[in-house]
Amino acid sequence: MNLVEEIQRRKTFGIISHPDAGKTTLTEKLLLFGGAIKTAGAVKSNKITQHAASDFMEIEKQRGISVSTSVMGFDYKGLKINLLDTPGHQDFAEDTYRTLTAVDSVVMLIDCVKGVEIQTEKLMEVCRMRSTPVISFINKLDREGRDPYELLDEIEEKLSIKVRPLSWPIGMGKSFKGVYSLFNNKLMLFTPSKTKINIDDYIEIADINSTILEKYIGEKAAQHLRDDVELINGIYPEFDIEEYRAGKVAPVFFGSAVNNFGVQELLDCFIDIAPVPKPRHTELREILPEENKFTGFVFKIHANMDPRHRNRIAFIRVCSGMFERKKNYFHVRHEKNLRFSNATAFMAQNKETIDEAFPGDIIGLYDTGNLKIGDTLTEGEKGMFKGIPSFSPEIFKEVENLDAMKSKQLDKGLRQLMDEGVAQLFTFELGTRRVVGTVGQLQFDVIQHRLQHEYGATCRFRAMNLFKACWFASKNKKKLDEFIKSKYRHIARDKDGKLVFMAETKQWLMMVQENFPDIEFHFTSEF
Ligand code: G4P
Repeated sequence: MNLVEEIQRRKTFGIISHPDAGKTTLTEKLLLFGGAIKTAGAVKSNKITQHAASDFMEIEKQRGISVSTSVMGFDYKGLKINLLDTPGHQDFAEDTYRTLTAVDSVVMLIDCVKGVEIQTEKLMEVCRMRSTPVISFINKLDREGRDPYELLDEIEEKLSIKVRPLSWPIGMGKSFKGVYSLFNNKLMLFTPSKTKINIDDYIEIADINSTILEKYIGEKAAQHLRDDVELINGIYPEFDIEEYRAGKVAPVFFGSAVNNFGVQELLDCFIDIAPVPKPRHTELREILPEENKFTGFVFKIHANMDPRHRNRIAFIRVCSGMFERKKNYFHVRHEKNLRFSNATAFMAQNKETIDEAFPGDIIGLYDTGNLKIGDTLTEGEKGMFKGIPSFSPEIFKEVENLDAMKSKQLDKGLRQLMDEGVAQLFTFELGTRRVVGTVGQLQFDVIQHRLQHEYGATCRFRAMNLFKACWFASKNKKKLDEFIKSKYRHIARDKDGKLVFMAETKQWLMMVQENFPDIEFHFTSEF
């Protein structure tokens, strides 16, 4: 197979959802239907159970487990599917955002009882920023959920994306009879089964007006379905694959993951319509996947694999060319060549050493501290990949060193933890104050623990009253200098040396924005 054929058969995606909507279940069922695993129960949940929700040690343990399910690759109908897992706990939302930079599309899971929940809204925002194509799966139809039309309206309103149902439920909860696929005009009857895949329950109905429908679902439901289908075709424009691929419309499926229901349709439609790897931009130019030379970027680092050896795995998304093991690659930030002899590929549950990888694939490289999130590897070309932004943290705390003899260890530890993306570090221009910013409280416990156990450094965190870190810029150099001069007490640098305005309150930020109309303020590091 040549490079172009390899690219054309790759589909790399992630599942986004609010915790408990059924992500682990759906992941497992996709692997089951995809033939990658043989039995249910093989996929470990990365969900943080309630009793562990505030126990960072337990969470670290679970993060350890989730390394093996970080990337699940499997072959299905001649295609190579890469499913990237995303952390369930909201405190690790940054990890999820970054993982979304490495996929070409997403499946968005929604619980039909709860509708659109907050975490889904946040993740969808990231997808919208990148125009990532989205397929929606409305789950748990075996429960008494909300009216399907209402759910579709809610998705459009809360997630600012148009929808197009490609399947339609017949009843719900106790009266759930099945789903009619508008994608391929098939009727699927529902028999709850957590273990069995019932192929016999698929009935092809070329004409929805045929009386066969009555035979299977009864007169009342049949008429209801016909009315619904007519209404849907009247309200929603025909499904347009190009609009989907541009991230403008989300096709919607209904089903029940735990009962193996609707998953096959989702998977089959996914392989038909989901995009293959697309071109990506570096600071210098657009890189096409089919270019001969390898390029890729680091979107995730998992450390702490073995605390005695401090080794880490860097996850690289291949963007162009072919990755070969034992070849030297150019590390753009350090401007030097690195050699990786033990690249790992991820196939379902197993990690295996690989010799080559293609665009869309994720490889794991063992690293001793050279790589950090956002790093680009090439065959010599300069120019970092764009599109791996940092978002303003929500909680800020000042770092206080508790052992003056260990300040070097503290510096090193902090630097390496930030490289991994555990949190963000801001250093004030005035003085040497360092501030750690995170999305959730848990990271502070994680950082403190890891600094002590891995680097021998002890520190304390002092709470700070900060609202947001704002990256800023201006076309007017004079005004920019004036702003920096006037607000120098509140200006810090992020991990890449970019200037950041540390806003104390929302009101104050609004006032500053009014007073400095030539300055643009942003809550993400890339704009
Ligand atoms: P998550 O990864 O998104 O957090 O969700 P997960 O798959 O762990 O599913 C959350 C709960 O929802 C699980 O129940 C799971 O069995 C259930 N679930 C998933 N899909 C469906 C569905 O289609 N219908 C119904 N009724 N439930 C579904 P649990 O009680 O938390 O765990 P378990 O004891 O059942 O494993």
